[in-house]
Amino acid sequence: MKKIIAINASPRSEWNTGSLVREAAKGAESAGAEVEVIDLYKLKNFKGCVSCFGCKLPEHFGKCVYHDDLLPVLEKAENADGLIIGTPNYLGNVSSGFRAFYERLIFQKISYKKEPKNYVEKKIPVLLIMTSNVSEDFYTQIGYDKMLEDYKNRFENMVGPTEIMICGDTLQVDDYEKYDWTMFDPNAKKLRRETVFPKEMEKAFSLGAEIAGK
Ligand SMILES: Cc1cc2nc3c(=O)[nH]c(=O)nc-3n(C[C@H](O)[C@H](O)[C@H](O)COP(=O)(O)O)c2cc1C
Repeated sequence: MKKIIAINASPRSEWNTGSLVREAAKGAESAGAEVEVIDLYKLKNFKGCVSCFGCKLPEHFGKCVYHDDLLPVLEKAENADGLIIGTPNYLGNVSSGFRAFYERLIFQKISYKKEPKNYVEKKIPVLLIMTSNVSEDFYTQIGYDKMLEDYKNRFENMVGPTEIMICGDTLQVDDYEKYDWTMFDPNAKKLRRETVFPKEMEKAFSLGAEIAGK
């Protein structure tokens, strides 16, 4: 049975990103995979790469050695047959939790040698989900597509074939009336949540199922 690890790198476990990650996980399960969902922000103690270079020592080539709550997650990713990971867009990029995981996932595999250039032993499919306030239509205009392309390229080189799903114009809070957020039309946000978000959930489900089938 295929093992898939599904990581929610949003601090909110059941909001936009967490819901899509969980739906993709259900899709993978429906295709026969065993899936573990991890909310990164529920880990008590984790950091990005601390530049110890333990992963470049001959006895640890390709393996992060920094002991915190992220290490078992990296080990699970190492043993998985597929990776689903979701992040909200924070300030035009990924969340800091995502970045911490990503730094350690990728850097451990870079060799700093002419040959081999990396310690990648096997490749696994990746589904990268990003949710954002900005609608998908603006991604090219404001450079989000380029930012995502960089993540895709790095994942493809160091982890495996990567599919990107964007879900824009999300509902940020239940009650927009409480805030003085004149930029948004609360009714339009609610309507989108009720009519478009369910379709995004379906898409996440089928992409999750595809990951399990690869
Ligand atoms: C700290 C912070 C920074 C954000 N920056 C952006 C941004 O630069 N661009 C954007 O489109 N949305 C931005 N957002 C909105 C979130 O990306 C969006 O609401 C997302 O769907 C939230 O995911 P969640 O529901 O899983 O928490 C930001 C939200 C927060 C809290």
